[in-house]
Amino acid sequence: MTGWQAQSSALAKAVAATTTVGDTRWLAAVEETPRHVFVPRHYVQRDGDWVAVTAADARWLNAVYADAPLVTELLPDGLGRLSVVSSSTKPALMVRMLDALDVGDGHRVLEIGTGTGYNAALLCHRLGAESVFSVDIGVGLVAAARERLAALGYAPTLVAADGRFGLPGHGRFDRIVATCSVPTVPWAWAEQLTDGGLVLVDVKVGSQAGSLVLLRRYPDRLEGRFLARWAGFMPARDGDVAPSPPPGERAGPVAESVTFVDPDPWTALVPWFLASAGRSPVVGVTRYGPGLDGWRVSAADGSWSEVEPADARGLRVVRQGGPRRIWADVEDAHRVWAGAGRPGWERLGLVVTPDRKHGVWLDDPAAVLRTF
Ligand SMILES: C[S@@+](CC[C@H](N)C(=O)[O-])C[C@H]1O[C@@H](n2cnc3c(N)ncnc32)[C@H](O)[C@@H]1O
Repeated sequence: MTGWQAQSSALAKAVAATTTVGDTRWLAAVEETPRHVFVPRHYVQRDGDWVAVTAADARWLNAVYADAPLVTELLPDGLGRLSVVSSSTKPALMVRMLDALDVGDGHRVLEIGTGTGYNAALLCHRLGAESVFSVDIGVGLVAAARERLAALGYAPTLVAADGRFGLPGHGRFDRIVATCSVPTVPWAWAEQLTDGGLVLVDVKVGSQAGSLVLLRRYPDRLEGRFLARWAGFMPARDGDVAPSPPPGERAGPVAESVTFVDPDPWTALVPWFLASAGRSPVVGVTRYGPGLDGWRVSAADGSWSEVEPADARGLRVVRQGGPRRIWADVEDAHRVWAGAGRPGWERLGLVVTPDRKHGVWLDDPAAVLRTF
């Protein structure tokens, strides 16, 4: 075994140790695909700056074969700060998604978000390149991925385009997998799926507010459940540029109240999602204060709330401004969630209809909690 093969074999074992995989051919794909070909350079943050790590760096190969995401492309945002616009997803998450997608022999699969091309290579390994289609909004990313895939003898259909339109003109797909998040599921994807086909996508209605959902194509709708384990992808971009930073806080009248709800989204991601679904979505959430226990939350319409650090009883002062009281949305979502027995993602589902309406349901498609 050469150096990389010993490393990729160890990576496949690491993935198998943390992930329940029904179709072990995905593990074989990880074992036999050289990730280093797809990640000749990645970026790490040191002292607040991004630093490139390449083959010249002794740590590069180990990092490439670790079961971890790697930042692979940076672009300046509207404020001139470097923003991550592409990455190689954590291999265990890729395998978990490909496995959940229930890919069968002969299936035609469309990937939205080619990035490095590594995930497309896993698909080519499993299905053959003629069944693999992948699009990315980054022109340079697609060109680089094409070269890397060709170096392995794969020539899937790669297109530089906005994947929110799917890939028109290439027939129907049995499966669509998106590796960037979307606030709503584009109906174009439903139109390009075979009857009974599946789409797996991270629906994020706001910052951290959503997760992976597996939807089946029915004649009149897409419908399915969220995967049990939360995951997060970078949002789909509008062009081959970095996304705009969230709006800053606005001036205006301020309402003050108190709350016992923990504002940390990570402590309760389901109500965080319910708080944004159908409301002005939360686009920015940051910690502040000496212990970083205070939270500032901002919404797309300029609404904002500031939740002070908790006192000894867990009580926090809340200030809110802008057109909506977004903290009230968060508290309401917590009430609904607690009333339903604090469900995990696996109890939530989504239905999308051709009129672009989305319904979030609990346990049963008839029990819709939120629409957006
Ligand atoms: C997490 S990375 C994809 C990782 C990739 N699957 C891999 O194996 O390296 C997300 C990708 O989505 C792409 N993307 C963002 N917005 C997009 C859009 N509107 N259409 C298509 N791709 C988009 C980004 O350019 C980025 O490469």
